[in-house]
Amino acid sequence: MTNLNSHNIVNHIEDIFNRRGAESYLGEDVTMSQHMLQAAQCAKKSGADDSLIVAALLHDIGHYQNEIPETALAKGKNNYHEEAGANFLEDYFPLSVVEPIRQHVATKRYLCAVRPEYFELLSAASIDTLNLQGGPMSSEEVIEFEKNDYLEECIKLRYWDEDAKDSNRICPSFSYYRALIESLVKN
Ligand SMILES: [Fe+2]
Repeated sequence: MTNLNSHNIVNHIEDIFNRRGAESYLGEDVTMSQHMLQAAQCAKKSGADDSLIVAALLHDIGHYQNEIPETALAKGKNNYHEEAGANFLEDYFPLSVVEPIRQHVATKRYLCAVRPEYFELLSAASIDTLNLQGGPMSSEEVIEFEKNDYLEECIKLRYWDEDAKDSNRICPSFSYYRALIESLVKN
């Protein structure tokens, strides 16, 4: 893997989408790239700010662990995909992008605990992984989770994550977001 820096990181991410995007997404009808592009489209349509659009676009990048430098993976305790993705992206993007990504699995557990109607939105595959991920949060975990500075953003991203699984939906490609992503890269 070439050495990554703030000048080539967006190329690297685009390359991952191009080479790996067609891979399937955890038992869903959409591919990985369809899923992330649809999540970004949901964010854009909702009038989300640029950071949250990019968070939606990149939220599952951690599924491609062999595209992530060892140095980023070494930061993780268990390298679940949300943690791997966030540890990778935090060197290049602000917390407003990284934190909703880091918390997107925890947010599913949170919403299952506090909003019973949210559970109805989960796909069968997402219910399966929920159980592996620890199930709904306990009340102590809920209190702790609500301290997150990006709680609202985390919740929004999670709803788009559930919504972004429609195999018939047409949405803009990665290049549509390219300038937006570039504008958020830290120097
Ligand atoms: Fe997702």
